[in-house]
Amino acid sequence: MSLKEQIESLGKEAVELIKKAENLSSLSALRVEYLGKKGKLKNILKTLGKLPPEERKEIGQLANRVKEEIETVLKEKEGELKAKALEEELRKNRIDITLPSGWIEAGSSHPVISTLIEISETFISMGFSVAEGPEVEEEKYNFDMLNIPPDHPARDMQDTFFVNKDGFVLRTHTSPVQIRAMLTRKPPIAVIAPGRVYRKDADPTHSPMFHQIEGLMVDENVTFKDLKGILKIFLESVFGKDVKIRFRPSYFPFTEPSAEVDIGCTVCGGSGCRVCKGTGWLEILGCGMVDPNVFEAVGIDPEKYTGFAFGLGVERIAMLRYRINDIRLLFENDMRFNHQFKGIR
Ligand code: DAH
Repeated sequence: MSLKEQIESLGKEAVELIKKAENLSSLSALRVEYLGKKGKLKNILKTLGKLPPEERKEIGQLANRVKEEIETVLKEKEGELKAKALEEELRKNRIDITLPSGWIEAGSSHPVISTLIEISETFISMGFSVAEGPEVEEEKYNFDMLNIPPDHPARDMQDTFFVNKDGFVLRTHTSPVQIRAMLTRKPPIAVIAPGRVYRKDADPTHSPMFHQIEGLMVDENVTFKDLKGILKIFLESVFGKDVKIRFRPSYFPFTEPSAEVDIGCTVCGGSGCRVCKGTGWLEILGCGMVDPNVFEAVGIDPEKYTGFAFGLGVERIAMLRYRINDIRLLFENDMRFNHQFKGIR
């Protein structure tokens, strides 16, 4: 076979093999085999030097053409194989976006928290803003400055959780936030203070930790009438327009006069039942006009300003609202109980 024929047949052979290549690695092996430094083409051309010059040129050109042809076919095949490999990869890792997704259960508010939020929103809509205070509270805010003297029964070890730092307690009510608000703000003041409070109590209607919402309004000419109006709006928004409301004289150290507010029993409608202990009324909250001693403790002039305050228990309202007969159900976190409040806000 002449050199020319050898080159031509090598070209044909290479092209044929390349076209049949099944994957990229055999393709690159073919490239090395035919066009590599020690490849078949180079090998044939070794004898080129022995030829007469004009023949050498002709063969040289032929070799170049064959080389280019092989390169072109290699490139085409490479493109084809890469596309095939990608397609295969995509088919293997196919994601069916029409499949239904896994089920992630959405959480929802606890009935105490949804009640707390709803009550807060009612007051916020009337212009109150939210104030906060710590749950480990200074005794002077929790008691002294609220006109609760050291020998007052409310300080009894039976009720109060003391902490191992002198002068501090777990707050027994949200009323200390009143003191904090009056020390840091100037009248007019209109705040509510929702939060956790602690007392050594545990039975079907008392839990050692529970939630209260405190309210405080201080300005010139604030009267008991304002207190009644605001509480009426609040009670109607939580218990409905037809709710019956009564104010009963009472006593709190930090208010004078003081009152407790009852609503007509939501269970029996007033005829008397177990929940209202036959009275037809349910006690809902405590309130009154801020005692001048409290104003003096925080440096507000009681001759110029008056104010009202109130405090209510959130669990009690949640229990009436959802007809829950044992406060402990609210804190046991039994999912059979909690699930009943899904979707209720
Ligand atoms: N702090 C009282 C309690 O925990 C509730 C209370 C009553 C708060 C009358 C007030 C109020 O602001 O005026 O029992």
